Amino acid sequence: MEKILEIENLRVSYHTYAGEVQAVRGVSFDVNRGKTLAIVGESGCGKSVTSKTIMGLIPTPPGEIKEGSKILFDGKNILEQSEKEWCDYRGSQCSMIFQDALTSLNPTMNIGKQIVENIRNHNKIDKAEARKRAMTMLRLAGIPDEEMCMKKYPHELSGGMRQRVMIAIALSGNPKVLIADEPTTALDVTIQAQIIELMKSIQEQFGTTIILITHDLGVVADIADRIVVMYSGKVVEEGKSREIFFGHKHPYTWSLLKAAPSLELGKEEKLVSIEGTPPDLIDPPVGCPFAARCKYCMKACLEAMPPQFEFEEEHKVACWLYHPESGYANIRFEEETEDE
Ligand SMILES: Nc1ncnc2c1ncn2[C@@H]1O[C@H](COP(=O)(O)OP(=O)(O)OP(=O)(O)O)[C@@H](O)[C@H]1O
Ligand SMILES: [Mg+2]
Repeated sequence: MEKILEIENLRVSYHTYAGEVQAVRGVSFDVNRGKTLAIVGESGCGKSVTSKTIMGLIPTPPGEIKEGSKILFDGKNILEQSEKEWCDYRGSQCSMIFQDALTSLNPTMNIGKQIVENIRNHNKIDKAEARKRAMTMLRLAGIPDEEMCMKKYPHELSGGMRQRVMIAIALSGNPKVLIADEPTTALDVTIQAQIIELMKSIQEQFGTTIILITHDLGVVADIADRIVVMYSGKVVEEGKSREIFFGHKHPYTWSLLKAAPSLELGKEEKLVSIEGTPPDLIDPPVGCPFAARCKYCMKACLEAMPPQFEFEEEHKVACWLYHPESGYANIRFEEETEDE
C-alpha cells in the first residue's frame, strides 16, 4: 500500500502557566493514499493537536514541536518547510474541516465571498471563474440551491448546511488529503450519515485520502479502512478497521468499544462508561498511561511504557499483556465481562 503521510515520533507540547502540557507524546502512524484512516480516542487525547500539526497550525509559542518529530508528506518532511511552502501546501495538498463549523466560518462575510476568496488564494483565476468554481464545489457538497447559499451568512444556515459549506471550502483547492476533525459531532444522526456518505463519494470521485477524527465509533465503522486509537497523547493500538472492531487487543480499545452505544435494534444493553479519567499531561505517568484505569494492570505497566507489539496485517498494540513473558497473550476481554 502506498503511503501518502508518514508520521514519525511526533511530540508536541504547549507551554502554559501551569507547566508544559505534553499533548502529543511520540506518535507514529502512516496514512495510505486514497484510503480513510480514523483517529479515535477520548476527549483530550491529542487528536486535534496531531491534525493541526499536519496542517502546520500549531502556534509556536505557546506550542512547541519537539526535535526529532517528523511528518513526511509524499516523502518530504513538511515540518521543515518555510512559511511560503506551508501556504502553498494548505488547501492544495492538505485541507482540514475543523471541529466547529460555525466558529471556523467568518460571520461577517457571506458564503460566496468566503469560498471565492479561498479559491482565489490558491489559484490565479478571475472572480467570475472563481464564482463558477465555488458553485460547483457547493453543488458537489450536496447543497441544493447553491446560488441562494452563496448569498447567505453562516448564521443563516443549519448545522448540516454549514458543515457542507466547510467541506466545499476544504475541497476547493482539490487537496490530496482531507482531514475532518469531528465533522459530524454537532449534527443529528440522519445528517451525520449524509455527511459521511458525501465524504465517501468525494473519495470515490477524486481519490482523496481522508483522515477522520472522531470519538464516535459508529461513524468510523462505516467509512474507515484503518483505525488509530489514541490515549493520553500516544497511539495505543492501530490496525485495519475489522481488526480494531473484532480483534482488538488493547484493554483501552475494548473499553472504548464497550462505551459506544449499539445501534442494533431490539438489543438491550447497559451503556458503560470508562471509569476514572485520563492522566494529567503536565506530569504524565512513566508507565502505561491507561494503567490506573485498566483492570488487567500488572507491575510492569506502572514501571515503563510498553513497546509496540506487532501482529499480522500491521496490527500494532502497545500493551504489556503481549510481552512473551506476561502469560496473557491469548487474553479474551469479552469472557471476563460475562463472568462478572
Ligand atoms: N492551546 C492549548 N494550550 C494548552 N493546552 C492545549 C492547547 N490545545 C490543546 N491543549 C491540550 O492538549 C491536549 C490534547 O488536546 P486535543 O485538542 O488534541 O484533544 P482531542 O483529542 O482533540 O480532544 P477532543 O475530542 O475534546 O477534541 C489536551 O490535554 C489539551 O488540554
Ligand atoms: Mg479535538
